[in-house]
Amino acid sequence: MLVFIFQQCLKTLALPIYVLALFGLWDPICKRLFPFIMKNFSRVYNKTMHREKETLFKNMKDFADTSGKLRLLEIGVGTGTNFQFYPPNSHVTCIDYNPNFKNILLGSMAQNTHLQFEDFVVASAENMSSVSDNSVDVVVATLLLCSVDSPQAALKEILRVLRPGGAYLFMEHVAAGKSTWISFWQQVCNPTWRCVADGCTLLREPWKDLEKTGFSKLNWQHTTGPLILGVVRPNIYGYAVK
Ligand SMILES: C[S@@+](CC[C@H](N)C(=O)[O-])C[C@H]1O[C@@H](n2cnc3c(N)ncnc32)[C@H](O)[C@@H]1O
Repeated sequence: MLVFIFQQCLKTLALPIYVLALFGLWDPICKRLFPFIMKNFSRVYNKTMHREKETLFKNMKDFADTSGKLRLLEIGVGTGTNFQFYPPNSHVTCIDYNPNFKNILLGSMAQNTHLQFEDFVVASAENMSSVSDNSVDVVVATLLLCSVDSPQAALKEILRVLRPGGAYLFMEHVAAGKSTWISFWQQVCNPTWRCVADGCTLLREPWKDLEKTGFSKLNWQHTTGPLILGVVRPNIYGYAVK
């Protein structure tokens, strides 16, 4: 009941956005604004998660071929905030369903001269038909599964494009443990958050989908994200091997 009352209060505060959404006008505005929001959020997020990201990405070279070339696919690439962590001789293909990230992404590509960029494909994680089966050494996706329509479908696609023995590296904000204050506020904020943050939901438990996908090895752990936004504090990161 309390959750419902607080939800309605938040919805009232965000009423102009709900009205725009009712007439189909909010989505294009949100899609244009989101890259700028992410540019700033990523800085804060990367600062807090620097150690975890270094740990997550440190063994990427092990998945390269004998010449040292690493075929890397980043899904939901956003602003390209992870490029700095990739080893030299990575051949990076980027996918995102929001074409408005392109300008900021091109800036990140220009700064990361140690990488070779292959392509930026505007496509959905749930349907990456432009990427062949078994063609990628490493898939990276951070803060993606909160936003996709179907985490199961996205994970199935990730498994399809990875070569046998290839790895999927992930970091995601997730639902807090039940009966915690963070869980309470996640439930309160979720409807409005979804609207404002381009479909991102605060209530996902992606480890459940990861466990069902059929990876040969799965290793993940909980960690905590930036304090500034309590509702996205609970995070997980880890890897899965095809
Ligand atoms: C929260 S942002 C994270 C961006 C970046 N990975 C990071 O860690 O800063 C989510 C990103 O996933 C993209 N995205 C959301 N749903 C998607 C989908 N179904 N397919 C492809 N990209 C998607 C968004 O456009 C956005 O760039």
